[in-house]
Amino acid sequence: TRILFVTSEIMPLSKTGGLGDVSQSLPAALRHLGHDVRVLTPAYGSIAPDFGAGQPVAQLHLPGLTEAARLSVLDAPEGGYPIYLLHYPPYYQRPGGPYQDPQGQDWSDNDQRFALLARVGQELAQGRVANLDWRPEVVHANDWQSALLPYLLVLEERAGASRPGTLFTVHNLAYQGIFPAAAVQRLGLPPADFHLHGTEYYGQFSFMKTGLVYADRISTVSPTYAREIQTPEFGMGLDGLLRERARDLRGILNGIDTRTWNPTRDAQLPARYEAGDLAGKTRCKRALQREMGLPEDADAFLFGVVSRLVSQKGMDLVADALPEMLAGGGQFALLGSGERELEERFQSFAADYPTQVAVRIGYDEGLAHRIEAGLDLFLMPSRFEPSGLNQMYSLAYGTPPLVRRTGGLADTVVDADTQSPAVCAANGFVFDRPTVEDLLAAFRRARQRYRQPEAWRVLQQHGMSQDFSWERAAQEYVKVYEEIRRH
Ligand code: ADP
Ligand code: GLC
Repeated sequence: TRILFVTSEIMPLSKTGGLGDVSQSLPAALRHLGHDVRVLTPAYGSIAPDFGAGQPVAQLHLPGLTEAARLSVLDAPEGGYPIYLLHYPPYYQRPGGPYQDPQGQDWSDNDQRFALLARVGQELAQGRVANLDWRPEVVHANDWQSALLPYLLVLEERAGASRPGTLFTVHNLAYQGIFPAAAVQRLGLPPADFHLHGTEYYGQFSFMKTGLVYADRISTVSPTYAREIQTPEFGMGLDGLLRERARDLRGILNGIDTRTWNPTRDAQLPARYEAGDLAGKTRCKRALQREMGLPEDADAFLFGVVSRLVSQKGMDLVADALPEMLAGGGQFALLGSGERELEERFQSFAADYPTQVAVRIGYDEGLAHRIEAGLDLFLMPSRFEPSGLNQMYSLAYGTPPLVRRTGGLADTVVDADTQSPAVCAANGFVFDRPTVEDLLAAFRRARQRYRQPEAWRVLQQHGMSQDFSWERAAQEYVKVYEEIRRH
């Protein structure tokens, strides 16, 4: 199948969260299964130097632009499939991140920046890019940044053109791309669709809703999140629409990249290890204690976090529970960045408990690997979690995760104390309500279990033997593509 995969982030070129990882791994897995997958992504200012600008493909003269948009092509660093880079310096050559300025404010023209991504996706989808003799059978759009594309293709169809089938994947329903109603005109979209059953969301224009309304199929990144978003509690105002579209909605759990996230060969670690021989993990723990400035103590119960510091991730619960967790004498290591208030709370813990708490505010890929490997227990008490990758990294690294039972966390972590047949697959600790009490109760169970080395090792080994490869997920996507593909 010929697939155009459209994404606003892709590793190692750009990343603000799990979407960057998924956009790297899923196309590679599809390619491996023999599909002709090609990726379209913006050329942000920050990526060009490392990877080059790519080979020029075409210039696109689209209405409303002050200069031509350019497409270039780059081979994916893993090889095997092309990445089309969309160059439009007025929109993408800026300091800051893909979505925000250096102060952390959303760019005020994000509607135009990502409508352009969809417009260029439309040209590719319709085979209208000169010099490029290629037309996809399926277009796969991801999150609100590429959500206009399925809609633009429906407009093509209304105008009498044929079009590819469309899949829209929701990686996080909390980010919806909502703009003032004036965006409809600004983006040159038909005002007639700006209503309750179309692009309108409480008087505003919503990219996310537009994708959910007009795509042939919708998916999200775990089976449990696919069910949850059909309820008011998790639906972020779109649960009614998602219930209406339930028959077209799939939940496909993410995989992890087992080449980069693999303790038997991870070059970022001071030592490597495997399920049958965990000596290297003990060395990783010591090295992490040293790196983070904590006392080197093999017996200390070392727990921690790698996360965006936002309320989605339940990091306020961790902060509230931390003094009680530390009363038992353990150590806490955190790497993350996000909301100022949370950053400051964790930094003041580090000052108050210098021998027990170490905090790094920032983004550090290598340290993320060393923390996953060096910890005894990984905390991920998310309020909601579409899939989550970090709990899977933890499992793969023999670091049992402590999670809240929601979304992809519920689909990957099995509690050590579950009284059910599933107990033979137990790999971590799970709690239900997003409260400090429930978090602490699960934490105490984990700490107690840690004091039983045999039982702990069984948990570690269960996690390490699980299969989180992308191949399974890729096969499930292929099934959806086959339902919708059009020649
Ligand atoms: P989300 O996309 O909601 O942030 P995921 O668990 O899907 O959550 O993916 C998060 C990704 O970002 C993981 O690859 C994780 O290792 C990485 N990450 C998050 N915060 C940091 C950080 N401060 N430094 C390095 N990597 C981070
Ligand atoms: C989002 C979600 C996360 C998911 C990632 C990739 O950022 O918050 O749970 O793993 O997308 O799908």
